[in-house]
Amino acid sequence: MNAVIRRFADAPALTRAALDLVAAAAREAIAQRGRFAMALSGGATPLPLYAAMAREGYGAPPEATLFFFGDERLVPVSDSRSTFGVVAPLLFTPSPVPVGNIHPMPVEIRPAELAAATYEAEVRQALGTAPGEVPRFDLILLGLGPDGHTASLFPGSPALAETAALVAAVPPPTTAAPAVPRLTFTLPLMNAARRVRFLTTAKGEEAALAQALADRPDPAVPASLVRPDGELAWLVDEGQGGVRRDQPK
Ligand code: 6PG
Repeated sequence: MNAVIRRFADAPALTRAALDLVAAAAREAIAQRGRFAMALSGGATPLPLYAAMAREGYGAPPEATLFFFGDERLVPVSDSRSTFGVVAPLLFTPSPVPVGNIHPMPVEIRPAELAAATYEAEVRQALGTAPGEVPRFDLILLGLGPDGHTASLFPGSPALAETAALVAAVPPPTTAAPAVPRLTFTLPLMNAARRVRFLTTAKGEEAALAQALADRPDPAVPASLVRPDGELAWLVDEGQGGVRRDQPK
C-alpha cells in the first residue's frame, strides 16, 4: 500500500507529530487556495490533538479554516456520545473560530437520510464544488476501530458500496458501541481528499491494523478501503494507548 506508516512510543509523541502534519497541510492549503478545509474524526485518540491545536495553533488562521466532521452519532450535542459535544470544548472554545466555519453534522434532522443529504449539500456549498464533482478536503482525519471500521463505515455496511452519495446514514452498528444510528462520510468523499491521516493506537487493534495496512483492500476491514487520490499516512501509538470512547455505555 502506498502509505506512510509512522509509529510512536506514546500518545504525546503521536499528538506532536499529528499537530505538525495538520499544520503542514494547513500552510500548504492557505498558500495554494487561501483556505483550509479539514474533517475531524471521533474517538479518543485525536482528542489531545484537538486540545493542542487550540493551544498552539494549527498553521492556518481560524477565519480561513473550515471544520467538518467525518462521522457523528445521531444524538443531541449535550449527549456524552456526541463527537461534536466532546470536540467543541477542546478545539473551539479555547481558541474561538467563526461560527460559520464550524460545520457539525445536523443530528436534529430526521429521517437520517435527509440529514445525510443536508450535510452533503453543506459540504458542497462550503467547499464550492461544481455539480458532478467530488469535493476535495485538504485534510481528513480518521480513526480505526477494533472491528476495522473507520468513521462510521462498519464491516458489512451497505454504505461501503456507495459510489455517488458523499454522506450516508448508517443504522446502529452491531460491532461497536454505542448502538445509535450515525452519519458518515463515504469512500468517494474520503478518497477524493488531498490528505488522509489515520490516528490510532495499536493496543487492542493489532489485527485490524495489520489488515488495514495490507496491500489488498478488504471490505471486511473498511479502513483498508481508504486509498485516497492524495497522500495517505498512518500514525500509530505503539504504547499502552488511551481510554476508548467507543465503549458500551
Ligand atoms: C468515533 C468514530 C470511530 C473512531 C474509531 C477509533 O468513535 O467517533 O466513529 O471511527 O474514530 O473507533 O476510536 P479511538 O480513537 O477511540 O480508538
